[in-house]
This record gives sequence, C-alpha cells and structure tokens, in this order.
Amino acid sequence: MAVSGTQKTESVSRSHREGIESLNKTIWSVAGGKGGTGKTIISANIGVGMAVLGYKVILIDADLGVPNLHNYLGIKRPQMTIDDFLVKKVASLSDVIIPTPIDNLKFISGGTNLVGIANLQYAKKQKLLRHINRLNADIIVVDLGAGISHNTIDFFNLSSRGIVITNPEPNANQDAYFFLKNAAYRRLKNFTKANKEFKNTFEAYIDSNGNGTFDFQKFYEFLPDYSPVVHRDFNDYMNDFKPRLIMNKIRKFGQKKEAQWFLNLVQKFMNIDMDYIGGLKFDNKIMDSSEKSFPYICRFPGSPNSKNMFEILDTLNSVDMKHHEVRSFKEFRSRLKDYRKNWK
Ligand SMILES: Nc1ncnc2c1ncn2[C@@H]1O[C@H](COP(=O)(O)OP(=O)(O)OP(=O)(O)O)[C@@H](O)[C@H]1O
Ligand SMILES: [Mg+2]
Repeated sequence: MAVSGTQKTESVSRSHREGIESLNKTIWSVAGGKGGTGKTIISANIGVGMAVLGYKVILIDADLGVPNLHNYLGIKRPQMTIDDFLVKKVASLSDVIIPTPIDNLKFISGGTNLVGIANLQYAKKQKLLRHINRLNADIIVVDLGAGISHNTIDFFNLSSRGIVITNPEPNANQDAYFFLKNAAYRRLKNFTKANKEFKNTFEAYIDSNGNGTFDFQKFYEFLPDYSPVVHRDFNDYMNDFKPRLIMNKIRKFGQKKEAQWFLNLVQKFMNIDMDYIGGLKFDNKIMDSSEKSFPYICRFPGSPNSKNMFEILDTLNSVDMKHHEVRSFKEFRSRLKDYRKNWK
C-alpha cells in the first residue's frame, strides 16, 4: 500500500483513539489451493499478531459453508455469522462483527446454515466484497477455503498482495501454482471488462488458440506484436499483482529452498513477481494449540515458530504498514505473554 510511514502511523493511532474509520486499509487474503496447508491457522495467528502489535484488525472466515477459524480463536459458537448478512437479517456486514479475547481484534464468522453458500450467486458475492472493502479496520485478514472456485479466487483478488500458503510437497506446490494461475487469469478477464481494445485482442487470441487452454508464456509472446499499447496497459495492470508466499510445515533443513524454486517457476511461466515472506516449521505444538482452541503464538510465545511468525509479521508490517511500534521479537514475546491469560 503506497502510504508514507507518517500517514499510516497517524491513521493507526487516530483510529484506536477515536474509533473513526481508518483512512488506509490493508487487506490480506490467505489462500493456497490445496486443503490443510495451514491457511486458517496462519490467518488466525497473523490476525492475533497484528492486533498484539497494536493494529485494529478484523479476521474474516470466508471458507463459506465449512468455516472453522473461530475454533482457532477460542470462540465456541459465533452468535452472528455472514449468513445473517446474506439473508438480510442485518443491513451491513459490520453488524455481524463479534469480539475476540483481544480488544482490537474483531471477527466475522462464516456461516453454515445457507445451503449453496459455497457457490454464492454473483450479486451476493459482489455485495459481500463491497462490504468487506467498507469495513472499518487497519488490517482485514480473509481466510479462504481450498480449491479454485470463482468465489475463492474473487475473494483472493480483493487484494493484489494476498498470501499463498504452501507446504514442501509436490501436491501442495502444484495446487498453489494452479491457484495462482487461476487468480492471474481472473485478473486478466477483469481487465478485459475495463479495456475494450484489450477485450478484442484477448478474444482474438483465444479464438486463434482454438483448444480452450491458456498459456501465459505464449500470451505474453503474442501480445507485444499484436498491440504494443495494449501490452503496456496490461503490464501496468498485472505489475500490481504481487502475491506473497509462506512455506508451512517445514520438516527438514533445506526445504525452504523449495520456496525459491516455486517463485522462479511462477516468474518464468506466468511473469508473476512473488515475495517469499517466511516459513514455519512442522510443530506438534501447533496441533496442541488447535486442540485447545488457543492461538498458537499466545500459547507458545517463545517457541521458534512464534519467532518465525514475528518475522513474517515484521515483513508485512514494514512493506504494507510502515509502522514500527514493536521492533524486537523480545518485546513481541513479552506482549504475547500478557495476552495469554485472555484464553485461560
Ligand atoms: N506448521 C504446522 N505444524 C504442525 N501442524 C500444523 C502446522 N500448520 C498447520 N497444522 C495443522 O494442520 C491442520 C490443518 O491446518 P489448517 O486448518 O490451518 O489448514 P487449512 O489450510 O486452513 O485447511 P482447509 O483447506 O481445510 O481450510 C490442523 O490440524 C493444524 O493444526
Ligand atoms: Mg481452513
């Protein structure tokens, strides 16, 4: 987000002081393609961590139909959910916000009662996306389900700097790759809606291709010759798309290298610039904290993975928020210890 450090600092402190709408809002959607890679646990801990760092955060469970983020926060049965908004029981998405054990961390639970909610109708989806964009917070973290449904992709594309969670195993990397390919393709299709010349170019390309497949590399070769102007506009539009990668469940020394391999692949075949923002080790304590519905970083503040999480938060903080109230892991850890009692 292109804000200066000073602007953002003012926005954070003012919104905390007066509860007014934040001027600069950052949205991080968390996805990954494959099931079980750690999207929800990481969303929960990013939300908790950023709240502990002083930001006003809203965590949204957008794994529609099968939500479980509340379990990672110690919330037994959410009283209000996205369903209440979708069936118009309440007028605004902000009406279904519920508190969490941390004051400046709020939560919106996914619903389970609406049949077919996982395949949200277009108009409802657009309304939900609009309302997410209007929420009053410094940071909104959107936890997404597995797979590449249009819903999931569109929620991921709420932000151009979303977070993809993968694991060091071929299936996870393959699914993450196809997830990104679909997200980029959906952005490309959106661009065709806003740019008539590009739409014609794109349709001509698809027709000439004939077999219904789409290869970004070939498209990038075709575009400059076909129309240099459209090529330039399209590059400007796609340059904004800079998703992040987190490698979770690392079990062996050297598995972090797979992250670099993945970034190279995505760059080479799709021309997408991704940033690797950190890795988390496989750790049974993560499962222990899930079983206890206790956010991991608060339950085990001094663990190596809490330090890894701090480094991820620090990177997100310095790139998107530019606000550094807590500069060291030591200070972060001592804040986490203060919050532990909230879950006891
Ligand atoms: N680093 C880790 N070490 C050990 N266990 C982990 C780690 N990360 C996640 N897990 C465990 O993996 C399981 C899946 O985690 P999580 O629910 O966050 O995945 P998900 O990607 O959100 O899954 P889904 O696709 O079903 O939404 C949980 O039991 C969680 O405790
Ligand atoms: Mg999940």
